[in-house]
Amino acid sequence: MRPRRFFPAGALKGTIRVPGDKSISHRSIMLGALAVGETRVTGLLEGEDVLATAAAMRAMGAQAERVGDGEWSVHGVGVGTLLQPQAPLDMGNSGTSTRLLMGIVASHPISATFVGDASLSNRPMGRVIDPLSQMGAAFEASEGGRLPLTVRGAYPAVPIEYRLPVASAQVKSAVLLAGLNTPGVTTVIEPVPTRDHSERMLRGFGAELTVEELGGERVIRIRGEAELKPQTIEVPGDPSSAAFFIVAGLIVPGSELTIQNVGLNPTRAGIVEILRKMGGQIEEVNRREVGGEPVADLVVRHSDLQGIAVDPAVAPSMIDEFPALFVAASLAKGRTVTSGLDELRVKESDRLSAMAAALAAAGARVSETEDGLIIDGTGGEPLAGTQAAVTTHLDHRIAMSMAIAGLASRAGVEVDDTRPIATSFPVFEALLDGLAA
Ligand code: S3P
Repeated sequence: MRPRRFFPAGALKGTIRVPGDKSISHRSIMLGALAVGETRVTGLLEGEDVLATAAAMRAMGAQAERVGDGEWSVHGVGVGTLLQPQAPLDMGNSGTSTRLLMGIVASHPISATFVGDASLSNRPMGRVIDPLSQMGAAFEASEGGRLPLTVRGAYPAVPIEYRLPVASAQVKSAVLLAGLNTPGVTTVIEPVPTRDHSERMLRGFGAELTVEELGGERVIRIRGEAELKPQTIEVPGDPSSAAFFIVAGLIVPGSELTIQNVGLNPTRAGIVEILRKMGGQIEEVNRREVGGEPVADLVVRHSDLQGIAVDPAVAPSMIDEFPALFVAASLAKGRTVTSGLDELRVKESDRLSAMAAALAAAGARVSETEDGLIIDGTGGEPLAGTQAAVTTHLDHRIAMSMAIAGLASRAGVEVDDTRPIATSFPVFEALLDGLAA
């Protein structure tokens, strides 16, 4: 364990640049590994989760090498020609690696065993086992459809039409990636839109993929036995990483900071919209496109935040940002009510109970419901801070959220373990220390 107490350190001032988007980084390595020839990636997030994806693709025959800071070269083997991995694939803490790779393996004539840390081994995989079994893959999973589990791919796999029972980009992507090596057309129907990086990138690599809006649903079709062409990819900055600094700038008095290179894909940008509704001053400058995704620099100023009832419909577009939002709500004036967040209970930790406990320990007024938190904010007064350390449950986003809460507290907030931060945002503490200095 690597504990740390995060103290209030005065106004945050300066300019930072957030590292590459985690979702896009995973996908660039995976699709690069399935293309024939060399894919070059810049701005890749070199966090533990993405490195787990790269190691897995190497174990299945691709070359994926770091050639500079965030610069990677991937030599793909081509769709359909992945090799049998010789050892279990260690997914560490990464649900995205696991679920997307299960999809890739499901339609290849190979088998793979997936293992992970205590957090990942507790997460439900039934949601991908179901559709991939319909496509013909076979699974031996631990109790409750959990890791360790072995996938035996089907060849040829059967194309299916699958309506997502949960709003999950990981499930959608697992089926689309399985569809890549499946004869015919695989269809995913999405009643609620989720992040669309897979669709954008699959098209960029030359897959035949269409998206149609039908009666309020998104119907995504991919033609299998695809031939992917190698690409040059610039990964935009991760809005989920930026969120911690956006909230920090809003809640720490006197702050004014610029966060460069923030991806603002509409399927990801819910946090900016909600914080603005709460009164947050977040200005977008230098709007541009990076790697086919909208990006801007954000100028964030300390703001008097107001509590809000968060419409559950925005949840998918900010699903990873609720821990940070809960911190903002704890400092806002009045009550914030969130609901419809059952999915937060099956993330790297149960984020509703973990954040309720951690914020209460830091002096916030918070109550937990079945599917959300209700928070009565301080109206800008600092939180008391913690005595004992708060528990992060191997969850990077709990650790970073409570670090930010510490900046807006009197006594500081002690986080029991900062190591999980390296899964998604290895330079988080260095950037924070730089701004506070
Ligand atoms: C992700 C999808 C989301 C998100 C995760 C990354 C992705 O998970 O929470 O951090 O890259 O597809 P779900 O699909 O479980 O909602």
